[in-house]
This record gives sequence, C-alpha cells and structure tokens, in this order.
Amino acid sequence: MNKEWWKKAVVYQIYPRSFNDSNGDGIGDLPGIREKIDYLEYLGIDLVWLNPVYDSPNDDNGYDVRNYRKIMDEFGDMGDWEALLEDLHERGIKLVMDFIPNHTSDEHRWFRKSRKSRDNKYRDYYFWRSGNEKEPPNNWDSVFGGSAWKFDDLTREYYLHLFSRKQPDLNWDNPEVRKELYEIMNWWLDKGIDGFRLDVVNFISKNPKLPDDTTRGPYGSRGSKYYVDGPNIHSYLQEMNRKVFAGRDAVAIGETPLVSVDEGAKYVEPSRNELDMIFQFDHVTFDLDDGGFWSHPKDWNLTELKDIFSRWRKVAARTGGWNATYLSNHDQPRMVSRLGDDANFRRESAKLLATLLLTISGTPFIYQGEELGMTNYPFSDISELRDVQTINQFNEMKKKGEVEDFEEVKDKVRFWSRDNARTPIQWTSGENAGFTKGEPWINVNPNKESINVEAEKKDENSVLNYYRDLISLRKDHEALIYGKYEPLMDDDEEIFAFKRRGKDETVLTVLNFSDGKRELSLSKLIPKGWRGLLLSNYPDENLDEERTNINLKPYEARLYLLE
Ligand code: GLC
Ligand code: CA
Repeated sequence: MNKEWWKKAVVYQIYPRSFNDSNGDGIGDLPGIREKIDYLEYLGIDLVWLNPVYDSPNDDNGYDVRNYRKIMDEFGDMGDWEALLEDLHERGIKLVMDFIPNHTSDEHRWFRKSRKSRDNKYRDYYFWRSGNEKEPPNNWDSVFGGSAWKFDDLTREYYLHLFSRKQPDLNWDNPEVRKELYEIMNWWLDKGIDGFRLDVVNFISKNPKLPDDTTRGPYGSRGSKYYVDGPNIHSYLQEMNRKVFAGRDAVAIGETPLVSVDEGAKYVEPSRNELDMIFQFDHVTFDLDDGGFWSHPKDWNLTELKDIFSRWRKVAARTGGWNATYLSNHDQPRMVSRLGDDANFRRESAKLLATLLLTISGTPFIYQGEELGMTNYPFSDISELRDVQTINQFNEMKKKGEVEDFEEVKDKVRFWSRDNARTPIQWTSGENAGFTKGEPWINVNPNKESINVEAEKKDENSVLNYYRDLISLRKDHEALIYGKYEPLMDDDEEIFAFKRRGKDETVLTVLNFSDGKRELSLSKLIPKGWRGLLLSNYPDENLDEERTNINLKPYEARLYLLE
C-alpha cells in the first residue's frame, strides 16, 4: 500500500462564516481563522478543509461562485488568503480548498453572457432548453425544493439548476467548460494548496436526453437517477486527474451524494486515477424516513450503522482504495444530537462518536465544533433560519398548502436543518460566545454558557481534551492508520466493536452505543487478553482489574492495545 500523506492526516473542516470574526461585522473571515491557528495546532490536526471562500453573492453561502479567482469580500482579500496559507504551512498544517465544479452563480461572468441570447459562445456552458411557460423541459426536482428549471424571460428558455435558482448547472459535455475549470484548479494548486474537496462531483455528468423521471428517488425527489454517477462521470474524472492532479502531490476528495457501492469503488480504485477518497452518504441518510426533504428521523438500528461502515471498508479493501470518514459536516445535523444523546449523555456520547471517527479505518474529518460536543440549535421561528435549503423547502410546502406555520415543522428543522451545524463556534461563555463583537449573522447557541473552548481547555475531562488524546494516539499507533479493519459482534444492537490489525500491534475499539449499562465478556472477544488500556471516556476509573468481563457504562468507549 502506498503511504500517501493524506492517509495519515487528521482533517479539520472550517466553515469560515461561523468560525471566528476578526472585524466585528458578524461574519467569520480569513483573518479570524489566522487568529486561531494556535487552536488548530493545540488540537493536533494536520489538514484544514476550508469551505468555499470565493467571491459569491452567497445565496448558498459560497457554493454559488461568482468569481473563482477572487476571495469573497466578507472574508477578506487574496492577501489575507495567502497569509493564511503561509501561516498554516509554517505550522505544518496543509490546506484543501473546496471546489465547485457542478454549477456557478447566476452572477458568474459565464452565466451573464450565456443568458443574453440563444446563440453565443457561452450558451452551451449551461443547460438551456425550451419548454413552455407553464411546463419546464422535464420534471426533475431541485435538491432545494421546487422544479430544477427556471424560466428566463430574456430568451424565453429554461435553465437547469439542481440546487438553488442562483446556481445554474454547468454543462460538462462541453469541452470548453472542462478546460476552463481545469485551468482554475491548476491556478489554485500553483498557489501552493494541497488539494481539493470537490463539491457534488458525481453530479457533473447528466444523461444528455434529460429524460422525465417516472419514479421518485431518495428524499422523494425526481431526476437523480439521470445525474448521479452519470454516463461520462468516470471519463471526466480521469481527464481531470490527467489535466490537474497528475504529477502533483495533491489530494482529490470527492463529495458524492447518493453514490452506489459499485460506482464508489470505481472512484477510489487507485489504478483508475479518478479520486483519492469520497464522502459517501449512506450513514447520513439511513435514519431518515422517505417523507421527502422534511424526513423525520426514524428509529435506527446499530447493526445497520455498523453494516454501512463495514460495507465501505470492504470497498476500500477490495479496490486498494481509501475511505474518508465523517460523522457530520456543514450540511448535516450535529453528530451528538443525531447519533448520540445530547440531553442526558452529551459529553459521553460525543466522546464515543469521536472514538469511532478517529479509530475506524480511513482519513477522519472533524467538523468544527464537533470537538467541543456542540449540539443542534433550538430553532423556534423561520426568521432564525439562514439556509437556502431550509427556507426554500419551507416556502414550497407552504405554497402547496402542506403546512401553515413553522410550529408544524419545528421538530424536523431542529433535527436536520443545515443551520444546526452553522451556528458560530463557541469560544467563550461571554457575549456572542466570543465569535464576534458585532451582531452574528446567525444566532449563537444559548448553550455557549456551558459548551465553549475556554471551559473545555481548562477541564481535563472535556470533549476537547479527549479529541486531543485521540489525535495523538493515532500518531503513536500506526495500526490506527494502516491496520486492517476487523469488525466484531456484527449482530449486536448495542456494541460497536472492531479491531485494527497492524503490522506490529493490534488495537481494539469497544463502544457501547446504548444509554444503559452493558456487561461484556472480554475473554470471548479477545481470548489472548490485552496489553494496555489506551483510552476510555469515563474519567478516574480503575479498569485494569476488568480482565475477563467488562462493565460498560452508558455510551462508554474503550480502546485497548491487544496482546
Ligand atoms: C454540497 C455542499 C452544500 C451545497 C451543495 C450545492 O452538498 O456541501 O453545502 O449546498 O453542494 O453546492
Ligand atoms: Ca468579519
């Protein structure tokens, strides 16, 4: 196996808008990140994935790019960005930028030209189709609600937008489009960045006939089977690899919603030269019912979750590929509110999930705030929401008469609106949690009083200090990086356990995913016994005596070095 640097890396994802505001305008920014590099170093991470910082009208917080070669005014300027890169590199931290190949902003120069007439060089950069004023060219739904087509009065045609109407989809079948995008990627790599996270990259190749979808796909939406892992996706990724990544030591991380195991295997198989790793979505959709976007969380089984993790590790083993591991990000609820118990065992379950993230095979991605055990937000009015997806979907449902007011969807929004993960980082218990001196662009979670960096640093049993321990353990035990993944107790509904079998040593992870106590026979699980207890998430325990049977407390996590 090749031991590329990104296999060893622990990644920290920064959502700049909500990280740290340096100038009091209520919006996090690049100088704000620079002020906190000590914190990143203190955590021990190796790589930062920065959400989009390009010039954007911010309909979708930077995922609608107006100019790929310019920094968003609110975040600073190119000088600030260069200084950030330099500061990070100086501390040995690498930087991965977010790149958005599937769509631009409708304010991007290409789209402004494209829309002007039916016949111009840029027309074919996007998908323009005639329909009639009442009916769009096909029945695809936008991921953010409503039709995926918008009628444009100027030329009396529709354009395709899988996301918001301010995010028109680029036509990758046009070689000019691909060339332009590769040029931009090379331009950034030449500036010295260490790779890209490629936004919804498995959506870029559409079925050229753009057919009507007679079925409903995931989230009850129509169209995905004609653009997820589409007809030319592999040849486009291979071309991108040749034109952009070949000969560079840069990592390519694909975001691949709804990806199937078979296609996923192709993306990561090293000899195919497509991507280095992908974010699959099975474990962030398995707990939703099929009630459309406003799915309610359903009761889920641990066996299902374990099966998902095993399935994708088999893909890596079979192909020689690699996994990207994440439990939350800027599009998902806070992991402790979703998979843990943020009411009764917040600290314990946050640490348990951290143990899973950092000891299972693959490169771990920590989403900002997760290391503090930050939780979902108690939204009580639509005016508190900022996310275009949540707002559009709510308005769409109102329009259809499915709901009248916010109260009816409150629980669902509190569970899974993307804004749950976008509230500012809680640095202190003080005003605005120390995030800004001004008015924050989105509310600070009221639990900043008890959950904040300042308090977490002081408390040796904090979630934050537990993350630091886990990160440094990964550095000390190569088995946690390259060790073979061996799941145990597959059928157990409470225990998530696995070994990482390395060249010189083997590590065992045991996680009690229940809010009750659980006794477990260690002598059955590991007949040869263990050499040392590396970590547990309950403090001050004398666990050395528990050699044959162990008594796990609610959400207890343990890590053993085996004989
Ligand atoms: C990805 C991003 C998400 C964005 C969408 C459209 O899923 O992570 O935040 O809204 O793509 O660009
Ligand atoms: Ca600011």
